[in-house]
Amino acid sequence: MVRKKLVVGNWKMNGSRAQNDVLLSALKEEGRDVAVEVVVCPPYPYLGQVGQALEGAWIALGAQNISSFNAGAYTGEVSASMLVDLGCAWVIVGHSERRSLFGEANEVVAVKVRAALEAGLNPIVCVGETLGQREDGKAEAVVGEQIDSVVSALGQDGAAKLTVAYEPVWAIGTGRVALPEQAQAMHRFIRARLDLAGVAAEGVRILYGGSVTAENAPLLFVQPDIDGALVGGASLVAPGFLGICRAASSMAA
Ligand code: PGA
Repeated sequence: MVRKKLVVGNWKMNGSRAQNDVLLSALKEEGRDVAVEVVVCPPYPYLGQVGQALEGAWIALGAQNISSFNAGAYTGEVSASMLVDLGCAWVIVGHSERRSLFGEANEVVAVKVRAALEAGLNPIVCVGETLGQREDGKAEAVVGEQIDSVVSALGQDGAAKLTVAYEPVWAIGTGRVALPEQAQAMHRFIRARLDLAGVAAEGVRILYGGSVTAENAPLLFVQPDIDGALVGGASLVAPGFLGICRAASSMAA
């Protein structure tokens, strides 16, 4: 099966109204030749601004997190339906920074993914091992458990609607990108794990994330199980992000 490549920019807690305008104008003007699915995920307060700027453009809107709850007395939370209301089609769930800094365990991630799907959002579920876990030979066990927990909460049909992002924690924001073969091996493992659970895994896109740049993207995208990228730092600079999008588009079927 041919899976369409997908490039997602995760701005994390960066940007300002003025900076966002500059970045979005550059992406829209200079990226007309990009022929691949692209999403940007700004911080919550800028979703309205970015959504408006992207109206009719080739870039879709996503958020970086979502509440487990639907509505009510949950101070500081943002629900799936609010994200839909603001024009989001996508949401990142279970990023390693949310897991490690904000205590999101596999069970919470699974509930959030379900909330996203129920609201009609496309969840991008992040999985990945730490350096210590890799050195201890536990990378597959950790990632396998992260995958299993989401699949058991969603069931086979729900899980077939997922996008997975494999982000080794040691590669995020470090400039130390995984070797293409290393990433490919884990992507293949993830697909096999989904398959084992009865999920139609051939159609599930698995993105790589962790120090992706315009320079290393082509080597990653050529791998058979790498279906795109989740990009942090390089998504904040128009030429760098467009370079990654072009690398994906040049390989798009
Ligand atoms: P990075 O971040 O590209 O800056 O390494 C990736 C991510 O955390 O999604």
